Amino acid sequence: MAESRYPSAYAAWQADPIGWWQPAVDAIAWTRKPDAIFDASAGIFGHWFPGGELNIAHNCLDRHVESGRGEQAALVWDSAMTGQIVTHSYRELRDRTARVAGALAALGVARGDRVVIYMPMIPEAVIAMLACARLGAIHSVVFGGFAAAELAKRIEDAEPKAIISASCGLEPGRVVAYKPLLDAAIEISAHKPSACLIFQRPELTAPLLDGRDHDFTAAEAAAAPHAPVAVAATDPLYILYTSGTTGKPKGIVRDAGGYAVALRWSMNHIYGIDPGDVYWCASDVGWVVGHSYIVYGPLLAGATSVMYEGKPVGTPDAGAFWRVIAQHGVKVLFTAPTALRAIKQQDPEAAQLQHHDIAKFEALFLAGERCDPPTAIWIAEKLQRPVVDHWWQTETGWPITAGFRGYGLFPHKPGAGGRACPGYDVVALDDAGQPLPRGTVGNLAVRMPLPPGCAPTLWHDEAGFRRAYLDDFPGWYRTGDAGEVDVDGDVWVMGRTDDIINVAGHRLSTGAMEEVLASHPDVAECAVVGAADALKGQAPLGLVVLKAGANREHAALCRELVALVRDRIGPVAAFKDARVVARLPKTRSGKILRASIRRIADGQDAAPPPTIDDVTILDDLKVLFGAKP
Ligand code: COA
Ligand code: AMP
Repeated sequence: MAESRYPSAYAAWQADPIGWWQPAVDAIAWTRKPDAIFDASAGIFGHWFPGGELNIAHNCLDRHVESGRGEQAALVWDSAMTGQIVTHSYRELRDRTARVAGALAALGVARGDRVVIYMPMIPEAVIAMLACARLGAIHSVVFGGFAAAELAKRIEDAEPKAIISASCGLEPGRVVAYKPLLDAAIEISAHKPSACLIFQRPELTAPLLDGRDHDFTAAEAAAAPHAPVAVAATDPLYILYTSGTTGKPKGIVRDAGGYAVALRWSMNHIYGIDPGDVYWCASDVGWVVGHSYIVYGPLLAGATSVMYEGKPVGTPDAGAFWRVIAQHGVKVLFTAPTALRAIKQQDPEAAQLQHHDIAKFEALFLAGERCDPPTAIWIAEKLQRPVVDHWWQTETGWPITAGFRGYGLFPHKPGAGGRACPGYDVVALDDAGQPLPRGTVGNLAVRMPLPPGCAPTLWHDEAGFRRAYLDDFPGWYRTGDAGEVDVDGDVWVMGRTDDIINVAGHRLSTGAMEEVLASHPDVAECAVVGAADALKGQAPLGLVVLKAGANREHAALCRELVALVRDRIGPVAAFKDARVVARLPKTRSGKILRASIRRIADGQDAAPPPTIDDVTILDDLKVLFGAKP
């Protein structure tokens, strides 16, 4: 392999961290060029591309139609759930997006208004997002696996003028009726949208509420196409709520210009994707990965994006991913390690691979959680292709560390997350905020300012942004992840330093689950931790202490608690294990020792922390989890 161009590219960025972005800026079509690349005096930590104006949907669609890509496939929807494949060319996707934008405008949606999108994995979800972007409206997509109460929190915070939803989603073995969840959420929320646009899926249609609800298809058909509305580079494109350490989700804001520049750059430099290539991100549009690499990234690049409604296994078998790769000529797949563990569990020899011709497939990218080395080694051996683990967060919107196909760098250290992307100076800090020598585990942090594309703030909560990310280590962005930068510069991300857990690549707050458990009338106190899970990486485990006098049969109470979390947070919480204990281990100052609980649940030897006031509680827990005290 030719020598990697990564070191010189990264050094060039270090030498000129602002000017380095100019070629990436030039790759975007601006209606008004930025006055400067960066204004350090604006916003919380500076603004990227002040004075610039653009429309990202124009960059994703019209621009490619105008340059001759109109008939190329833009979006291939492959639904293993319904057996359908529907392809939209760039022209078709532009035309539908323009009409749906017109339909939204007719409902009174204009630049700066918020629109909540609560949809399954269907092309109309992508069209809805792009239609908002076309109007300069701010979308906020809520993952379909969240329950009504979680949706309501997001509606209340974002205060949308309209909501776009569908009648149902399809999960293996069940049809998920979305409309009753939407109706319940609007009922709970103090803020009410003035209109809802509902896409009726044939598997289950939903009754529409007169005056508020409108049929998506009819509205689209009746609407006049809307032209792209130019917005400031610094205007929010979307708000995406993600789990924080409490029950209140954080509204991550994404600005339009920085995002367009960073994503467009990432498509060829990180993923090695050129116009016309087929790229598949097997995530969901409800997550940041889906926003960036199902929708905006591949379309900005003029590539073909595959959107998959299905699972890695069971729809119909563990060969589903290889079938999609073969059928659509996928060059690069991006998925979460949990999907590979699911495939490996069912097909350890990857025998299904023999049935599909994946000759066009070049590389696999992984993110969402740390990829355990056995899985990384297994899949690299089976695929005989580079496997690139890359690390990022909802907050950053694109990778912090990666391998770089565009620079010829494919780090293969199973368990590591790659090298810092230009734009990010990554270090491990000690608890006092001092950089640690390479090879030492600490708090992973990024030197400020964050690069283009990263969140400039939280929605209506600047103070919250500072508190969550900037105050602990002045001059640095606190990622909330623990890990190290090794002597070669590869970054090892080992786990969160806060109460966030990662279940099947989904980021969840144990604090939110604790709030639900604590609301049960028989529960005096509780703790939720992420216990190791062979398939999902982590699975939530809840321990509860009963109120004095609560004379309950434990198994029945635990079933109630599991149902309560599913009802309040949603099936995505995957909360299936609640246990009653006599006491919770605490420090002398009363703080629950969640790390000790987790270690014991994982069967690790937990040396009693010096701050604990009664070690016998740990022994009780060891008995509960079947270990010797
Ligand atoms: N709408 C409604 N319910 C949903 C949903 C959606 N969009 N997505 C998931 N759910 C439900 C599932 O049906 C499941 O319900 P159940 O408890 O009744 O079985 C529950 O939420 C938990 O889902 P999940 O944790 O995804 O488990 P699973 O058993 O459905 O699938 C994997 C397990 C590993 C196959 C699956 O998690 C997977 O493919 N993950 C890929 C990870 C990924 O894409 N991450 C995104 C970040 S990169
Ligand atoms: P989310 O905001 O949902 O994308 O989740 C971000 C979190 O997922 C990060 O803070 C990490 O804890 C974890 N994560 C994402 N990608 C990786 C990776 N490649 N390696 C390790 N952890 C990861």
